[in-house]
Amino acid sequence: MYPQLRLRRLRSLKLVKETRVSKDDLILPLFIDENIAHGSKPIESMPGQYRHSIEHSVEEVMEARSLGIKSIIIFGIPARKDEAGSEAYNDNGVVQRAVRQIKNEIDDVVIITDLCLCEYTTHGHCGLVENGRILNDPTLDVLAKIAVSQANAGADIVAPSGMMDGMVHAIRAALDDSGFTDTAIMSYSAKYSSALYGPFREAADSAYKFGDRSSYQMDFANAREAIREVELDINEGADIVMVKPALFYLDIISRVRARFDDVPLAAYNVSGEYTMLKSAADKGYLKHDELIMECLTAIKRAGADLIITYFAKEAATLM
Ligand code: PBG
Ligand code: ZN
Repeated sequence: MYPQLRLRRLRSLKLVKETRVSKDDLILPLFIDENIAHGSKPIESMPGQYRHSIEHSVEEVMEARSLGIKSIIIFGIPARKDEAGSEAYNDNGVVQRAVRQIKNEIDDVVIITDLCLCEYTTHGHCGLVENGRILNDPTLDVLAKIAVSQANAGADIVAPSGMMDGMVHAIRAALDDSGFTDTAIMSYSAKYSSALYGPFREAADSAYKFGDRSSYQMDFANAREAIREVELDINEGADIVMVKPALFYLDIISRVRARFDDVPLAAYNVSGEYTMLKSAADKGYLKHDELIMECLTAIKRAGADLIITYFAKEAATLM
């Protein structure tokens, strides 16, 4: 009891820190744009972030590696879009070419490929569309083809982000059938329909042209449903599950961690979270470096093993 017991005694020693974010926990997102021939272009809605040409993405990964970041997740912006998103499974598509080139030049990077239709479809939805509805089951065949094409290009992990029911099962079956038994799946298991994705949609040119994503992404009012989503994905063969976004959803991360204590869990510190914090820090309203470390530590403390974050490079320089 106080006054004998004083918790402040140990504080200044920093010997008993419960949570440490390490460089190994960070996954750097990369936007690779087939329409850019050389170099990179700033993304207006995400200060400090860029879309890269394929050529420049290799340099970007080299820089990330030199900072100690192990892993990247790739989003492709194709030169051509159609109703069915067929560029996504073109073996010479932007992601496939980028993966080959990065693999060729850098041997110790873990390459994750985002696996979805929205960047590749003219309507911008994550699945095939018929009469204004997003079709679940017909989309699975397309996702399976994309997975095989990405694995064939050299992706270590494919990351389906479209929230179609049964996607992990369909992808696992297709990968195994094609001999890619070692390609892992990181599923965006509990992905909420969120206003925080706004900046990403400019970055990835993946805004939907009608309706919204609420028929397939989760209602932000629901927590128990996240457990069901995660459980389904684990049973379908997901190697890593994910909660997305992160900061408004720390309770979900924490619940998933408590319920499934032995499964690798990722959290996506999304574009809107980045832009909010970055803009306020750039203006000097919030302290940049402290803010980044507090943000990432909070996500880790909630229970995430891995954090996908646009702050990855800056955070790595702070560690
Ligand atoms: C699309 C996808 C989105 C993000 C990752 N993959 C946006 C969406 O669902 O509209 C969001 C990432 C971010 O906001 O940083 N499948
Ligand atoms: Zn999508």
